[in-house]
Amino acid sequence: MKSRVALIAALSWSVDARSAVEPHVKRLNNGLGLKPALGWNSWNAGQCSAASAQFALDTANKFISLGLKDLGYEYINIDDCWSTKSRNATGHLVPDPGKWPNGIKAVADQIHAMGLKFGLYGCAGTLTCAGYPGSEGHELQDAQTLASWGVDYWKYDNCYTPCNGGRVQTCQSPQGNTRTWMTTMGTALEKSGRKIFYSLCQWGRDNVWTWGASVGNSWRMSVDNWNDWASVVRIASAAAGMSQYAGPGGFNDLDMMQLGNGKLTAAEERTHFGLWAMCKSPIILGNDLRKVSSATLAIIKNADLLAVNQDSLGKAATTFQPPGAPKPVSGQIYPYWAGPLSDGVVIGLVAASGAATLSVNFKDVPGLGSQSYSWKELYTGKTGTGTNISFSLSSHDMAVVKVKTK
Ligand code: GLA
Repeated sequence: MKSRVALIAALSWSVDARSAVEPHVKRLNNGLGLKPALGWNSWNAGQCSAASAQFALDTANKFISLGLKDLGYEYINIDDCWSTKSRNATGHLVPDPGKWPNGIKAVADQIHAMGLKFGLYGCAGTLTCAGYPGSEGHELQDAQTLASWGVDYWKYDNCYTPCNGGRVQTCQSPQGNTRTWMTTMGTALEKSGRKIFYSLCQWGRDNVWTWGASVGNSWRMSVDNWNDWASVVRIASAAAGMSQYAGPGGFNDLDMMQLGNGKLTAAEERTHFGLWAMCKSPIILGNDLRKVSSATLAIIKNADLLAVNQDSLGKAATTFQPPGAPKPVSGQIYPYWAGPLSDGVVIGLVAASGAATLSVNFKDVPGLGSQSYSWKELYTGKTGTGTNISFSLSSHDMAVVKVKTK
């Protein structure tokens, strides 16, 4: 009897341990999003006024002239406010002729001819968050429209959905509701005949990280990044607890970047970009690339950090507690982060609560041992060889250190 109990205990332990690292989700297999998406989106750059053909094409040209395309940035995505306020007589979405004088397809064609991809935004409710037509009841028709225009990426929002009772963004949904309508659109996209990257945007409701990979290629895990340090802290601290759900084909989406939008300091921009890269979030730029500063450009063009984000393993970093370090505090960015790479380990050291000297012994880092390793800090380019690292960081700054194991 005793041995049977022990066997059951052992079995249930092994199931729990496995599900903690490899959730039992049948991942969406549309061949897309094997690495986190890299691109740009109009919303943070200018909300409704940025949802135009001109902005999309100007940005596509900047992707090429600034060298972003060569670094892997690919998607030019237009967010809310691109359509007219009502559907046409046949129920189709209509691009606003003032913003899209030649329609959507002409622009998608031009962007494709530049070797880039084009994305659009929609919403699962009756209206989008800014009050344009939503897809509720029109999912198949809209998916077909997107396919006919050559759309490659569809961000799908959560305003005016049934549990919102007709109100915007007030939904405290019963478990599973958002999954229902996110799945309806996903099925419609699959039936459209075109491979379309599916970006879920239901703000982290219904524990989306536990099921998002079965429905979409990425899922927003929180409310918006409001372009302040508090948002970076709120989102990054929450991301640490869901790293195990990221993987090729489906990633936690920490929301669009706010670098270059005038609020974050240079140090905060480094931490924002560095943690998003390490957490394997999509990196969707949100600034006006026609006016980008050289300081911001240097961060978003950091090839070593982009390589961390795009590493073929697709495993997200999370926090680890070195001996003697304080416990992580919910809602605060923990100073010590690490994650596996195909040829090493990436370590993040974050001075989130003020200037600090942060040090780690490699033997205390998950994936490393007590031997000597070669390392490189990816923002400064500083290199070294040894058994430990130590960095003096200004307030809100971070060091990202790649340690080679192969
Ligand atoms: C929601 C989303 C944002 C953006 C706006 C557009 O707030 O979370 O990312 O798409 O809607 O209205």
